[in-house]
Amino acid sequence: MDRLRIEGGRPLEGEVRISGAKNAALPIMCAALLSGEPLELTRVPRLVDVSTMAKLLAQMGVEVERAGEEQMRLAARRVTDPSAPYELVKTMRASVLVLGPLLARCGRARVSLPGGCAIGLRPVDQHVKGLQAMGATITVEHGYMNAVAERLRGARIVMDLVTVTGTENLMMAAALAEGETILENAAREPEVVDLARCLSAMGAKIEGAGTPVVRITGVGTLRGARHAVMPDRIETGTYLAAAAAAGGKVRLVGAALQALDATLEKLREAGAVVRASESAIELEMRERPRAVSLRTEPYPGFPTDMQAQFMALATVASGTALITETIFENRFMHALELQRLGADISLQGNTAVVKGVERLQGASVMATDLRASAGLVIAGLVADGVTTIERIYHLDRGYEALEKKLAALGARVERLRS
Ligand code: EPZ
Repeated sequence: MDRLRIEGGRPLEGEVRISGAKNAALPIMCAALLSGEPLELTRVPRLVDVSTMAKLLAQMGVEVERAGEEQMRLAARRVTDPSAPYELVKTMRASVLVLGPLLARCGRARVSLPGGCAIGLRPVDQHVKGLQAMGATITVEHGYMNAVAERLRGARIVMDLVTVTGTENLMMAAALAEGETILENAAREPEVVDLARCLSAMGAKIEGAGTPVVRITGVGTLRGARHAVMPDRIETGTYLAAAAAAGGKVRLVGAALQALDATLEKLREAGAVVRASESAIELEMRERPRAVSLRTEPYPGFPTDMQAQFMALATVASGTALITETIFENRFMHALELQRLGADISLQGNTAVVKGVERLQGASVMATDLRASAGLVIAGLVADGVTTIERIYHLDRGYEALEKKLAALGARVERLRS
């Protein structure tokens, strides 16, 4: 398994281009199932999760082709096999996003239960409850959800909790359902809005995406469309946090400006100078960061996908930061690895108390999940000496050309293949 070798202690200087958003591209690829006409996407990031989703759709009968750097063309003329096998679903939970579209397009679906993952149980009860409210019959046998629905019909669905892919699954199912669907307590994440934009371009009738109440009026069929995937706000936030921790000045071209308010606010609180223009975000950090406390919340609150990166920043900040994780029940595994680098962190339930230290010391550490790995990369960039991160396949799932982009910012990063 590949490892990343980082020589820390250098500021980050330079410019990188932000890729398309993984968490927008994945549901949007599934939206291709809703139409017999081609969906032409641009700004699709080259990530393992995107390749996995392409494989999953292809085995259902969807023609998927990548053209050029960032284009992807998906054509679901006929869906020959509406199923998502465990072998693929276990490697990527987002596979559950095919459930709604398959039910809407084919009237049936056989999708493996995702199972838990490192950061938590991650059930899909809200996805199931919503589809059942729209008339689907869903039984679970041998680890698979078997779903059938003659024709989905619109319903008013009050979601028990805010779920991003739950909202996306139900929005896609409702796009072809009979009548109106109202999703209450819907997720407001920018990726949900980007999916709604793509569905509308395909002819769906959606109002209120990005607010807690989304109204979808079902239509008979959806047409093909062209859509540019939004920039990845978590990739953007990750490089900004890295520069705030390591010091220096970075310019992120093509970054998502509006979708990062909570993150930008915390970076400024840490002492960074952040300038956002039409098509780029610049961050300059010329002093030791100040400790910044935070609490993860659904959008527009501070994103849980930025928690590990900010914990890494807190390890070398002046002062003590309280970091509370409210979305996932086990998303502090990076804390144990950061301690190996000399961080002073104590865990109290879902709050991590991080006392900033002057310097971290390089060491070997283990990546456990996608964003934890990003936190370890940031810590490696600021630690004295060499940090080696094991199991970086986690990183490859969500960060396109990570070592190239870090090297472009002056970091000494090398991928050790083994
Ligand atoms: C999406 O996951 C993202 N993934 C995650 O990003 C992100 O961390 C998460 O939203 C929260 O923002 C994609 O978009 C592909 P949730 P999702 O459903 O939709 C509970 C990354 O790093 N829940 O919003 O799976 C759940 O257990 C990944 O890119 C239920 O109880 O997250 C969690 O505690 C990691 N029942 C909370 O809700 C359900 O039916 C929020 O989960 C659904 C969710």
